[in-house]
Amino acid sequence: MSARSAPSPTQSESDTNQTSRRSRWQAETLNDATRAILDADSRVFLKQSVSTPCLNAIAKAEGIWIEDTAGRRYMDFHGNNVHHIGYGHPRLKKAIADQMDALPFAPRRYANTVSTALAEKLTAIAPGGMRKVLFTTGGSDAIEVAVRIARTATGRHKTLSFWDAFHGAGTGAAALSGEALFRSGPAAPLVAGATHVAPFACYRCPYGYAVDTNGKPNLELCKLQCARMVDYVLSRETDVAAVIAEPARAVPYIPPPGYWRMVKDACERHGALLIFDEIPTGLGKTGRMFACEHDDVAPDILVLGKALGGGILPIAAVLARDGLDVGGNWAFGHYTHEKNPVTARAALTTIDIIESEGLVENAAKVGAMALDHLHTWRTRIPCVGDVRGRGLLLGIELVRDQTGQEPHNDLAEYVLYAALNRGLSFKTTMGNVLTLTPPLTVTEAEMFEALIIIEGCIRQGHRELGT
Ligand SMILES: Cc1ncc(COP(=O)(O)O)c(C=O)c1O
Repeated sequence: MSARSAPSPTQSESDTNQTSRRSRWQAETLNDATRAILDADSRVFLKQSVSTPCLNAIAKAEGIWIEDTAGRRYMDFHGNNVHHIGYGHPRLKKAIADQMDALPFAPRRYANTVSTALAEKLTAIAPGGMRKVLFTTGGSDAIEVAVRIARTATGRHKTLSFWDAFHGAGTGAAALSGEALFRSGPAAPLVAGATHVAPFACYRCPYGYAVDTNGKPNLELCKLQCARMVDYVLSRETDVAAVIAEPARAVPYIPPPGYWRMVKDACERHGALLIFDEIPTGLGKTGRMFACEHDDVAPDILVLGKALGGGILPIAAVLARDGLDVGGNWAFGHYTHEKNPVTARAALTTIDIIESEGLVENAAKVGAMALDHLHTWRTRIPCVGDVRGRGLLLGIELVRDQTGQEPHNDLAEYVLYAALNRGLSFKTTMGNVLTLTPPLTVTEAEMFEALIIIEGCIRQGHRELGT
């Protein structure tokens, strides 16, 4: 069987659209009108895992809510991490409309004050003396721009990134990614020189170290083997231009204390740059403006996207520290919408809303409360193996039993669809991690409502499916 005709791997950063449980949910839930919309979608769009065919059809998105075409409303605890400020924020919609009247586009060779103001704003809020900026339309492109900067600055071409990561769908970004779904089959051959290393993942430590009963790593024992391995690889692959990673992994996995300091030191020792992909986590998701601030480590290059356009328009950004304006006469990111004043206005207004409405603080407060509550699940619910997160990036890992830690994918999928029936949408990651990423506007009451729904669905699923 050739790689292209082989069945695709199902376990990935998102739930899959190919399971019988999904078909059953659709048969029980969707009406004829919705089915007709999904059929039209399937007829015209190329089929692909985690995307088409779709689950359901959407008619409205407002605040933390989405509404399907049959009028059912769901709290959106997924939102592709674009909806930090809630869907359709009135101030953002007005700012975009005003900008369309004032200046709808800037053709190449023309500066415009809005794009410049956005670049200046980003350099003002970014950690670590970022002075130069470049915009793209999507995150994948921005990641590739970051790599080109690193290649030019170091005169090297290789990259080092994490297995299991996702950095985008483009050929260059997919090469950095570490999931078979995006790397194998039709994606191959990938960009040469993309080297990988096992990521930090304390609950399922790739080096075999166990966590304690509170889910915390024993650093005395493991001595941050995961960070040491980055150093080891950099000492063997001596021509690595950059280490690229999400500072808090979207699975989610939170770095063990000291991880990023050790990796940053290793990068400096071996002459590689550090690129942080904050496309999902940037702008407050983790309860700090940037996830890397929790670890007090600034990268050489920072990449933002997703929520930067306020959940309405696509825009991503690459921020480089002093000394990395190395492009000269080369073209790093020659994109049509590089200095689009409308997407720039959306981003400027989004940042203003995040700051003026105290959304980072709200993410920290509501997230901490939720995590405290989730920690009680580990003692109360036997199939909850681990709970972890930062701010509003939260994960609940379901297992068949806490000692064996065997992933309970079937239960996770059961909970996903049962929660939809109770008005809550989220995604599963790696098959068995319920991943919650609500907007930063979520209230304590909404968060508790969601947790009550999930707990009820886990208990119901556990009764029905067993271990
Ligand atoms: C961590 C990470 N990096 C990069 C990307 C790619 O962004 P985009 O889909 O805008 O190309 C994603 C998208 O999900 C992501 O989660």
